[in-house]
Amino acid sequence: MGSSSACILTADVVSNVVLCREHFRLTLRVPGFPEARPGQFVHLCPAERETGEYGVWDLQEDEVAWRGRTEAWRERLGEPMLRRAFSIAGLRRAERRSPQIEEEPGSLRRGDRLGNPIPGTRSPEPDARILNPEPSCELDVIYRVVGAGTRWMSTLTAGDRVSVLGPLGNAFPIRTDKRHAWMIAGGVGLPPMLWLAEALQRAERSAVAFCGARSADLLALTFTSRAVAREGGEERPHRSATGTASGIVPSSDARTATLCTTEFNALNTPVVIATDDGSLGFHGHIGAAMAAYHDANPVSPEDLVIYTCGPEMMMRFVAEFALARGIECLVCMERSMACGMGTCQSCVLPVAEPSDAAGWRYSLCCTEGPVYEASQLLWVTPDRGCRV
Ligand SMILES: Cc1cc2nc3c(=O)[nH]c(=O)nc-3n(C[C@H](O)[C@H](O)[C@H](O)COP(=O)(O)OP(=O)(O)OC[C@H]3O[C@@H](n4cnc5c(N)ncnc54)[C@H](O)[C@@H]3O)c2cc1C
Ligand code: FES
Repeated sequence: MGSSSACILTADVVSNVVLCREHFRLTLRVPGFPEARPGQFVHLCPAERETGEYGVWDLQEDEVAWRGRTEAWRERLGEPMLRRAFSIAGLRRAERRSPQIEEEPGSLRRGDRLGNPIPGTRSPEPDARILNPEPSCELDVIYRVVGAGTRWMSTLTAGDRVSVLGPLGNAFPIRTDKRHAWMIAGGVGLPPMLWLAEALQRAERSAVAFCGARSADLLALTFTSRAVAREGGEERPHRSATGTASGIVPSSDARTATLCTTEFNALNTPVVIATDDGSLGFHGHIGAAMAAYHDANPVSPEDLVIYTCGPEMMMRFVAEFALARGIECLVCMERSMACGMGTCQSCVLPVAEPSDAAGWRYSLCCTEGPVYEASQLLWVTPDRGCRV
């Protein structure tokens, strides 16, 4: 579950598409983005203004660069703000490498890794990106508009620039010794699962996605219609006004997973849908839907791994369900993350630590996580008896 090196890179917005109520998919072109894996996340903020203070940075940002960034936030949002964390929902690398251009001695090496500043480096040229010898890369994040930062993101259009710090955190391990993998996602826990489904498909695991939302119109998925596919000979995704599907309708008793969404369909991954208000699929929370599916489709605990991401109460239900049955469960936790790199301590959560006298310790979710074994998580801080 170890993390890879991270960079600060300037990305171009390729598109910013409305997926459903309050949810957008932002696609960024990020040349030189390092190797990353499902479960990892990026930290985003506006790129600096067009003053030459953009491009690829090492960690030794000077005062001017820092002022440039905070001013950019202030200008757009009326207040200085920190970066915002988003799971990587998809990543595509171009085959073709951009031409390599020789760098002058002392110039900033493109794609410098965090923690490895190069002595004597200088600020990048205004169009440093063309010097990047790395292949181009498109990265998706799916976000829900909840506050000032995500509101700013919803205003981005093609050609705008965004500063990307990442990839950060650890990743979901792919358990090749287990044939079955279930992904349980609630709300904005869905994005990392879309990319995880790709990795599971490549590893030839038998995967099922369980996706929950408060209501059908808050599910950032596209529902398919088999009826259209049969008549037209070509599958055309569609979303009806309510988000319900014609053709293959998600099971309302959660005992059957169906190929009802375009995104998971493309990865041959059946889906169970649950909504709190019963507007689509199972009426209730996605943990209960998973339990109903498990009753109808039992799998040997040794042969199953569960991945979960979403609201903490939901993940705790899933984790406890799995632990009670001896099923391995990996939980993608979320905390407010000011720095994303282990410096500010804003993201702590309590984890079991047998070697500690108290039996527990705080873990930094941004560097040790966000993915934890369910057995590690305490959910409440022992000496306070309350959530952190
Ligand atoms: C590792 C990680 C991955 C994430 N992945 C995604 C993702 O894929 N898609 C997505 O939409 N969101 C994701 N988030 C949550 C996202 O970071 C917050 O929604 C975002 O920072 C809100 O910024 P804002 O300025 O719009 O809202 P703010 O004005 O900062 O806050 C608005 C509301 O959201 C709450 N909030 C803010 N940050 C967080 C947070 N980190 N966790 C929980 N509640 C928060 C605040 O308490 C407040 O109630 C992730 C968070 C983490 C830590
Ligand atoms: S977000 Fe700063 S230490 Fe984790």
